[in-house]
Amino acid sequence: MVAVSTLAAVGSAIVVAGQTRAENAPAGAAGTRPGTVPTPVPAPLGPHSPLRDLAAGRGLVVGSAVDVPALSATPGYAAELGREFSSVTAESAMKWDAVEPVQGSPDFTAADTLVAFARTHGQVVYGHNLVWYQSLPDWLTNATLPDAQYGEVLRAHISAEVGHFRQAVWAWDVVNEPLAEDGSLRPDLWTSHLGPGYIADALRWAHDADPDAVLFLNEYGAEDVNAKSDGLYRLVRDLLAQGVPLGGVGFQLHLAPAGVPARLVENLRRFTALGLQVAITELDVRVPVPAAAGALARQAEVYLAAISACLAVPGCVSFTVWGFTDAVSWIPAAYPGYGQACLLDPTLAPKPAYWAVAGALRHAATATPP
Ligand code: XIL
Repeated sequence: MVAVSTLAAVGSAIVVAGQTRAENAPAGAAGTRPGTVPTPVPAPLGPHSPLRDLAAGRGLVVGSAVDVPALSATPGYAAELGREFSSVTAESAMKWDAVEPVQGSPDFTAADTLVAFARTHGQVVYGHNLVWYQSLPDWLTNATLPDAQYGEVLRAHISAEVGHFRQAVWAWDVVNEPLAEDGSLRPDLWTSHLGPGYIADALRWAHDADPDAVLFLNEYGAEDVNAKSDGLYRLVRDLLAQGVPLGGVGFQLHLAPAGVPARLVENLRRFTALGLQVAITELDVRVPVPAAAGALARQAEVYLAAISACLAVPGCVSFTVWGFTDAVSWIPAAYPGYGQACLLDPTLAPKPAYWAVAGALRHAATATPP
């Protein structure tokens, strides 16, 4: 039986999916290979400790999606990101349309900027994403190729991108959003041309390009025990049975205040029981705007439920919000009529949700001696 990685085991040898691997949790820093740098000693906690310090004692990284242009364009954004977070995820800069707008001419400029930022600020980098049905370059969506050639194109993309970021990215969302709501495989470009085997192939190609990276599948709407997460569970169990190098499952958690997943902890635990790591990868909690009285307090309860669930599950190694300030957030564009989904307001002042997350991390840090 495989052992489940625990937060206490971060940085030591961990058994994942039947393979003994060292250094496969995000214990490192500085955007380098986890484990090749010393595990940071948790800083003594003060009354205003940032989230990253509050989480460090539990071996948990706390991350945010990053809009790379905002690092230079939005006052205070970079400083706050560096201060509060120990992990970064590119909101767009590592997606296929960003890194290969012209076939065969990769452009990693924006993503490299983020990796350099992470290195300077002692952060790990979570890679997002390699295979998705969205954010594909036009040359690919407009192409009409023989089926087998889609496999060649996909293999070349994965090899190039994972190879470029070897030594810099600790984990990859190898396949993003592979499932339909009923738990079956999404009928997208990849399943239609390559069949269901594309997921195992993508994981193997990513593993070949960086054998040390932890390879995730990432999904939305699968946070509760439901038809979609049942399908996800069957999928990952089958992949593991085939010996496919899958290391973790990411749960996005784009939530509305009414949408607290009642069985989130139970759901996360059934995945870690398979020997996998789990991560909260894209948390945000949108509210109808203008926000009604009490809406931000209710939002804070949802953030609290999410961080508490992660803390309750050994093997939940990473907690990432999809944007940290309402000044730079995808929500108003993606969900018209909604906004204010983040931990900090547009002036970068902490909202009730920030204090809820900080309080939960502080409680966990003081309850668990390092
Ligand atoms: C979103 C970005 O936030 C937007 O800026 C972009 O226009 C579209 O993609 N699930 C994912 C993320 O996995 O990549 C998506 O990010 C949000 C939903």
